[in-house]
Amino acid sequence: MTVLRAKEITKVYEMKGGISHKALDRFSIAVEAGEFVGVMGPSGSGKTTLLNILATIDTPTSGRLEINGVDPSRLKSKDLALFRRRELGFIFQDFNLLDTLSIKENMMLPLVLENVKVNEVERRVHEMAELLGIGDILDKRTYEVSGGQQQRAAAARALIHEPAIVLADEPTGNLDSKAANDLLRALAALNEHKRATIVMVTHDPDAASFCERVAFIRDGRLFSEMCKKSNRQAFLSEILDALPRLGGDADDVAAVRV
Ligand SMILES: Nc1ncnc2c1ncn2[C@@H]1O[C@H](COP(=O)(O)OP(=O)(O)OP(=O)(O)O)[C@@H](O)[C@H]1O
Ligand SMILES: [Mg+2]
Repeated sequence: MTVLRAKEITKVYEMKGGISHKALDRFSIAVEAGEFVGVMGPSGSGKTTLLNILATIDTPTSGRLEINGVDPSRLKSKDLALFRRRELGFIFQDFNLLDTLSIKENMMLPLVLENVKVNEVERRVHEMAELLGIGDILDKRTYEVSGGQQQRAAAARALIHEPAIVLADEPTGNLDSKAANDLLRALAALNEHKRATIVMVTHDPDAASFCERVAFIRDGRLFSEMCKKSNRQAFLSEILDALPRLGGDADDVAAVRV
C-alpha cells in the first residue's frame, strides 16, 4: 500500500523585489507502508522545504500530494489540522517537548487529544517506553533528562497514535553519536516491529544507513535513489561513495558528527 505519493512537486519562494527561488523542481516520491526512507542532500537543496510540504505545513506551488489516499490541499483548515494530528507524526531536530509536562505526559498527548481510554493510554505508553528504552524516566521533566532521552520521548510521541507516516527533520542533529545511535536503533526497531512508516531527512550518512532506502536531492530535484541490499555497513559505504556525486559542498553533506 502506498502511504505517501508526492507527484512533481514544485515550490517557488517569492521574495521581496520580485525575486523568486525554486526550492523544489518537479520532485516525485512514493513511500509504501512500513518503509523507512532517508532523504539526503546538500544544504539548501530543498530537504526541509520538501518535509514541510509532506507535513502539510506548507503548500506546493504546483504538483500533487496524497497521504493515505487524501489530498491535503482539498481539506478545510479545521479538517487539515485534524488530519495532521491523526495521520502524521513529527520528530524535530530540537526535540520540541513541552517543559511543563512529564516525559510520560508528553508521550500521551496525541492519545489524550483523541480521547483514548486510560487503560489503553497506559498500555501504549509502556509499550513505547519499552521499545525506546525510556521506561525509567517517565515521571521526569524534560529538563531532568538527557537530550537523547528527550529525543526518544519525542519519537514515542510521534509514533504512539500509530500515524500513517512519521516525518523527521534531522532528528539526530543535536545529539552526540551515542545518543544518535540509540535513537536510530529505536526508529529502526519501531519500523520493523510496529511497521511504522518513516521519512527522515538527514545530513549524516551513518543515520541514513539505518534506512532501507535513501533518496538523494540536489537543487530541488530527485538526483538518485539507493536501496539497502544487505547489511547496514555495506549500505553506509555505498552512501559514502555516492555523496561526492551529489556535488554541492560534499563536506556539508558528510559533516562528521561530534
Ligand atoms: N521561506 C523561504 N523564503 C525564501 N527562500 C527560502 C525559504 N525557505 C527556504 N528557502 C530557500 O530554498 C532553498 C531550500 O531550502 P531548504 O531549507 O529546503 O534547504 P535544506 O535542504 O533543508 O537545507 P539545510 O540542509 O541547510 O537544512 C534554499 O536556497 C533556501 O535559501
Ligand atoms: Mg533543512
